[in-house]
Amino acid sequence: MTRLILFVFFMAFSLISGFAQDEPKFTLPELKYGFEALEPHIDAKTMEIHYSKHHKAYLDNLNKSGANTISASGLGTIEELMLTVDGKQASVRNNGGGHYNHTLFWEILSPGAKKMAEGKLATAIKNQFVSQDSLIKLMNAEGLKRFGSGWVWLIVTPLKTLAVVSTANQDNPLMNLEDMKRGVPVLGIDVWEHAYYLKHQNKRGEYLNTIWNVVDWAQVEKNYEAAVNSPLLKKIDKSSWKAYKEFNQIYSQINLPAQSGDYSLLKSKSGELVEKAEMLSKSNIPASFQNTDIKKVIGKVVSEVKDLSKAATKKPKDEVIKQKLADLQLVYTELMNIVSN
Ligand SMILES: [Fe+2]
Repeated sequence: MTRLILFVFFMAFSLISGFAQDEPKFTLPELKYGFEALEPHIDAKTMEIHYSKHHKAYLDNLNKSGANTISASGLGTIEELMLTVDGKQASVRNNGGGHYNHTLFWEILSPGAKKMAEGKLATAIKNQFVSQDSLIKLMNAEGLKRFGSGWVWLIVTPLKTLAVVSTANQDNPLMNLEDMKRGVPVLGIDVWEHAYYLKHQNKRGEYLNTIWNVVDWAQVEKNYEAAVNSPLLKKIDKSSWKAYKEFNQIYSQINLPAQSGDYSLLKSKSGELVEKAEMLSKSNIPASFQNTDIKKVIGKVVSEVKDLSKAATKKPKDEVIKQKLADLQLVYTELMNIVSN
């Protein structure tokens, strides 16, 4: 009897955990309107294929790509997953980008679109682009210039300003890619042929002119309000700060064995640690951290790193090195707190 109960319990547990593992992490967002609702600007057939075939394929491939595992390790949302894309992970880059980009695209389109932005967004547009009309002209020009497939975006940068950016394929400005202006997108226009070919054929300009009839500035305003207050802006700044990343790498590499009393890496790499600390102090500190005591704290890190390096290379007693390591750990934690908060 006990064996039977244990067997039933085991089977039930296996089924539950099996379901939990199979459950897709990312899902297709519900469309707030019918496929035909954006006619005559975007035709029903294009919408149907675009949403239920193209977007769904990106989503299915993303869920198959191992991104579940990445998410389970604490990265959570699709936005946070996008921040980790640095060009090495082709599947997450293409399929994760495809899922994030289209999710935003469906959201900013509406049959009852509000045609003019108001409030803080309208002010920001006026300050930076003179008028909404000139912003649209700029976005259309960027969309036309994009060779092959891609997107044109209105983003909020870490300086909380607006910028127009164009990306290739399914890349987006959240990604940590070389030579790309980064920020949080508030509006994205799909310029892949699959977005317009059935109705507009090769006339991308015609599609770009008409799509603004269904771009809902009420939603873009909401996205703007969320973006200027988004913690993603600081994360973008932090991950784009190459000197900080490089210092962290060498520090972690040395510190981990040193904490267990193995100072061999510290001794052989202390010159490199000093070099990376000095590069950090000379680097451009990202906008998000400039209103803090960060320069003072980086100065303390450099000084503690030099002290530690001197101690490690002069071969004093291990207790001295241990104390210098603890001193460095203290100021390093101070720096980490500024950058993480
Ligand atoms: Fe698309």
